[in-house]
Amino acid sequence: MEETILILDFGSQYTQLIARRVRELNVYCEIHPYNKIPEINDHIKGVILSGSPFSVRGEDAPNPDLNGIRKELPTLGVCYGAQLMAQHEDGVVAPSEIREYGRANLTFINRDSKLMKGMSDGSQVWMSHGDTILELPENLEVISSTHDVEVAGYKIKGEDTYGIQFHPEVYHTIEGATLLRNYVVDICACTQSWTPASFIETSIASLKEKLGNEKVVLGLSGGVDSSVAAELLQRAIGDNLYCIFVDNGLLRKNEFSKVLDSYKGLGLNVTGVDVKDRFYEALAGISEPEDKRKAIGGTFIEVFDEEAHKIKDVKWLAQGTIYPDVIESISVKGPSATIKSHHNVGGLPDVMKLKIIEPLNSLFKDEVRRIGRALEMPADILNRHPFPGPGLGIRIIGEITPEKVRILQDVDDLFIEGLKNNGLYDDVWQALVILLPVQSVGVMGDERTYENVVVLRAVGSTDGMTADWSHLPYEFLSKVSNDIINRVKGVNRVVYDISSKPPSTIEWE
Ligand code: XMP
Repeated sequence: MEETILILDFGSQYTQLIARRVRELNVYCEIHPYNKIPEINDHIKGVILSGSPFSVRGEDAPNPDLNGIRKELPTLGVCYGAQLMAQHEDGVVAPSEIREYGRANLTFINRDSKLMKGMSDGSQVWMSHGDTILELPENLEVISSTHDVEVAGYKIKGEDTYGIQFHPEVYHTIEGATLLRNYVVDICACTQSWTPASFIETSIASLKEKLGNEKVVLGLSGGVDSSVAAELLQRAIGDNLYCIFVDNGLLRKNEFSKVLDSYKGLGLNVTGVDVKDRFYEALAGISEPEDKRKAIGGTFIEVFDEEAHKIKDVKWLAQGTIYPDVIESISVKGPSATIKSHHNVGGLPDVMKLKIIEPLNSLFKDEVRRIGRALEMPADILNRHPFPGPGLGIRIIGEITPEKVRILQDVDDLFIEGLKNNGLYDDVWQALVILLPVQSVGVMGDERTYENVVVLRAVGSTDGMTADWSHLPYEFLSKVSNDIINRVKGVNRVVYDISSKPPSTIEWE
């Protein structure tokens, strides 16, 4: 097992960011809810207590027993975590006179403290707190201050325990990476050996051990996660991995054959199943978005199940699940832990009675890409924009017909190829086209037309939870709009979506 930093989550919006920053230092870490502390073992080298929307003074404040953690292992409290430990030591935590939010600068830094080594005078930090630590008992020493906050950082004497009021994980804390490095490398003595190469080596070894000679089935989608999962499994168990790639008739133009070819080029044992018509039949007459999702998901399960049954003695179902899907998140409305739900194709495991294997379930999306790069997978697979499971089915507003799919595929292809040819594709997080159930009047030559309206949408985002519309150059939009109207029969109007998420969503359905 890896050297691990344990992050106890108290519900802060920044908890996952702490994990990503620690991992950027090539140190593995895991997030666990404060009320489900895992058993401490030799692999755990340190513990970070996150921030929280709660106040330590509140009656419902999370207040876990830290015996067995503090004093035993180097411990770093961030914001709430710092206030909690200060309060355990009889320090005084009180509401801030003004709510401190935003940039501040360190006016005092004790550079003899291991945690603050290398931090510059006046270093900018990010504050976000309603409570302040006002008084510290004798055994706690201040190691940093800002103009407004005397206890911006403290150390508990005789222990490797530290608390900081600011957020080192946030980009605006300019030397946050230095501080976290001081903590994980110098204080916790982690060796920074968790690299893509080491991940690949250990995960292939553990997949080999776990799967032995047993057969595994995996549904490929053309996306990054399932493709990287397949490549790892292929390296571990070779042709005992059976991949299934379904053409549901709702993929991008020529995507099925292109992606199938690139999978074959990777040496994957993959079966392409063209069942477009089955999906179109299942979708006939349905126009409600959730009903469409159900019809598509249900048909997928049927097809997958039939195909998997053709593989004699298959024992495992592999999935490309990633870490954000499995982190248990803290509900800010109460201290109970809830599991985050996500909308990938569900239900497969129950139907098929297979054991589940998820080789990427400890990784964030950008880490999956790094692993893919280290596995030398093609860039066009790794850099592909996210694409929803129900595909173009939720981008044709209203009922789906093969003709509408054809129109949308042609428009989408011109937009996506246009982005690629103009060097814009990688600047955009996700680009899509929506076909509206609206006809508008136009004129072509001397003739009046009455045809479809399409919407182009391109957004910037980091995780799809929030997004802003991309400010694509006017010249590009103008050219692509002309191309679409001139070349795609059935479309005479193009509009560009300039809404952000929230309050809009990325998809229209
Ligand atoms: P929204 O539209 O909710 O989309 O802002 C956020 C991200 O999720 C994708 N999405 C889906 N993915 N099945 C999926 O696998 C779905 O039903 C689904 N709906 C939305 C969307 O493409 C975007 O990346």
